[in-house]
Amino acid sequence: MNQDDINKKKAAQAALKYIKDVPVIGVGTGSTVNHFINFLADSRGDFEGAVSSSEGTSERLRKAGIPVLDLNAVGTIEVYVDGADEVNPGKQLIKGGGGALTREKIIAAASRQFVCIVDGSKCVDVLGAFPLPIEVIPMARSYVAREMVKLGGQPVWRENFITDNHNQILDVHNLDIMEPVKLEQIINNITGVVTVGLFAMRPADVVLISRGDKIVTL
Ligand code: 5RP
Repeated sequence: MNQDDINKKKAAQAALKYIKDVPVIGVGTGSTVNHFINFLADSRGDFEGAVSSSEGTSERLRKAGIPVLDLNAVGTIEVYVDGADEVNPGKQLIKGGGGALTREKIIAAASRQFVCIVDGSKCVDVLGAFPLPIEVIPMARSYVAREMVKLGGQPVWRENFITDNHNQILDVHNLDIMEPVKLEQIINNITGVVTVGLFAMRPADVVLISRGDKIVTL
């Protein structure tokens, strides 16, 4: 395990205290969350099950013996645990590096508390160094790309990748995201956009950052 991976594992472990006595949790997607699922496997008697943000996570949860629940049958989720690609000091995030942004955003919206787990390398002052993922309806891909150029970005089609919702992804480079909420609203309004991986209107509530031996809580 390299140092980044060790830090991801520590951040995942630090999230366990947030799910004590919580019957149903939301579970995100990615390598940090995979550590979290491994920890859950050891404590699976404590809760009823999990709402999953991707097919990949569902498979891992089932392998760990954790029931995967339908959000429609669950209602509001008490706690959602997920990673991020970038985090700013306002707990606003870029997500979607793993392509699961749409289901992640739905679970974040339906959750009372969003606990974000990251290693220190994800922390930035201004979002945008990590290319911003946008899930698009396939026929709208070029149109949305042209709209993103007008906004100053350089969209790159994530070729050979189809989301769990059968859509495509544009990764938009070179955006300096000075006003995350405003940009999220603008991109949400582009026809053909399914989801933008900017989590600014609904940021994380808690960010657990693993740095060396310490866990810093935002
Ligand atoms: C997936 C995501 C992930 O949370 C994000 O990509 C971070 O992944 P990792 O924990 O592997 O660094 O948004 O869509």
